[in-house]
Amino acid sequence: MKIIEITENKKEYLDLLLLADEQEDMIDRYLDHVTMYVLDDNGVKCECVITDEGNGVLEIKNIATVPEYQGKGYAKAMIEFLIKQYHGQYSVLQVGTGDSPLTIPFYEKCGFIRSHSIPNFFTDNYDHPIIECGVQLVDMIYLQRPL
Ligand SMILES: CC(C)(COP(=O)(O)OP(=O)(O)OC[C@H]1O[C@@H](n2cnc3c(N)ncnc32)[C@H](O)[C@@H]1OP(=O)(O)O)[C@@H](O)C(=O)NCCC(=O)NCCS
Repeated sequence: MKIIEITENKKEYLDLLLLADEQEDMIDRYLDHVTMYVLDDNGVKCECVITDEGNGVLEIKNIATVPEYQGKGYAKAMIEFLIKQYHGQYSVLQVGTGDSPLTIPFYEKCGFIRSHSIPNFFTDNYDHPIIECGVQLVDMIYLQRPL
């Protein structure tokens, strides 16, 4: 298993990126100025994009595992890689996500705790309702863990 930084043609991984962020023009807002990694284990299994948010905060903008390979520890391995790679360079690893049972428990398993939220983020910024587990996402929930 290896984790590789992708510096060119990040859109090659659009199918994976869309799993975490289903509106392509929202991905286009950040894709040019992020750092992207993919986890390769006999083929790409997981991707992650991160940005420097200033004040010692490193933010995960997008993380997704190929559906058939979810639940096998790949995303957790990606988070552990980020912690090792950026320990000492940043003080906090942060992620923003919808209030969904598909994502919040994953981050909590990886040691993140809820910090703050942006009310109406999904309803204000997306052109269609984002539904997960039958529930419409409204607020952006931020979770953080020390780096
Ligand atoms: C969220 C996601 C990235 C997790 O990836 P994954 O590779 O399946 O996660 P892992 O197998 O590394 O899981 C790590 C831990 O979290 C747990 N976990 C993962 N998803 C979970 C869920 N929905 N509910 C409860 N626990 C969950 C796993 O059981 C595992 O626990 P363990 O360490 O005790 O074994 C993946 O489900 C995905 O790609 N979802 C679609 C895209 C998405 O929503 N991305 C996040 C948007 S911000």
